Amino acid sequence: MAVRLDGQVALVTGAGRGLGRAYAMDLAKHGAKVIVNDFGGSVSGEGSDDTPAQQVVNEIKAAGGDAVANAGDVGSYEDCFNMVKQAIDTYGRLDAIVANAGILRDVTIHNMSEQDWDLVIRVHLKQCYNLLRHAWPVFRQQAYGRVVMATSTSGLIGNFGQANYGAAKSAMYGLMNVAKLEGEKYNVMVNLISPGAATRMTNNLPGQTNTDQAERDIVMAPDHVAPAVTYMCSPQCLESGVAIEASGGRYGRIAFVRNEGVTYDPHGFKDADWVQANWSKITDISAAKAPWSFRETRDEHYAAKKA
Ligand SMILES: NC(=O)c1ccc[n+]([C@@H]2O[C@H](COP(=O)([O-])OP(=O)(O)OC[C@H]3O[C@@H](n4cnc5c(N)ncnc54)[C@H](O)[C@@H]3O)[C@@H](O)[C@H]2O)c1
Repeated sequence: MAVRLDGQVALVTGAGRGLGRAYAMDLAKHGAKVIVNDFGGSVSGEGSDDTPAQQVVNEIKAAGGDAVANAGDVGSYEDCFNMVKQAIDTYGRLDAIVANAGILRDVTIHNMSEQDWDLVIRVHLKQCYNLLRHAWPVFRQQAYGRVVMATSTSGLIGNFGQANYGAAKSAMYGLMNVAKLEGEKYNVMVNLISPGAATRMTNNLPGQTNTDQAERDIVMAPDHVAPAVTYMCSPQCLESGVAIEASGGRYGRIAFVRNEGVTYDPHGFKDADWVQANWSKITDISAAKAPWSFRETRDEHYAAKKA
């Protein structure tokens, strides 16, 4: 069945520009009514401006879709409540959330201020709690919901100078792991998108040159990421707990994996020398798997043959 969201309502945060705009436009193209949230600040989270969100609403309407603007701050518990309320008041329901809004305050750990840490964690990670907390009663009541949170390889893999951002982004993986279990019996699917795209956030990073900007605008267009988000927001997506990497002509999956490890009879004791001797087997992930839940790994552990 083709991917469609006819009659459904999606909330996309940070949708006034960049990747969020592409997600909102593509969701609307697939039939969703969209709450276009954006507080319109700078890359580092300063200032505010209502116009980016309204412009995207105008674009969606010009293309024949339906959308409303919201200028709330995703770091605010109350503003996120109002985003969910706006969806219900305007369209009578809320089916999908894309937690996409984000800022950067890149600085190495030894120079990072408490404010740089707190603000980045608030905008990225607390946003996800705020949105899930307010949408969850709606999702449970209607026994349906789709959530996509914007993570990053900066945290899932690592990137120099982004301790605050990387910590917030990889924490979303842990949040997903729990939310996917709590949403399971309510048909709520929770997934992550790890995008790569030419936006104002990435265009001024070290290593970019103006000469390759035109090429970057084509091959790294946010439009190449949006189809994965639309699919994960649709009723057709029945997967939960998956982090999809999408960037410049490649789709793939990033996962936290667990290996078989080395088991031993714990009636005996293995010391640090034993750990050193077995280190390569303990850390070998060549046959590792991404487990569904802690219970699964605990059961596997109890069932494992003692080495
Ligand atoms: N561009 C990439 O390659 C890339 C890579 C990995 C992850 N991401 C993530 O994707 C998301 C979108 O990034 P982008 O590249 O489109 O950046 P962008 O700066 O173009 O867009 C981010 C939008 O979020 C809005 N925003 C920021 N803080 C907000 C707040 N508190 N409340 C409401 N809106 C707020 C901004 O006004 C802006 O319009 C971010 O979460 C980012 O961390 C982007």
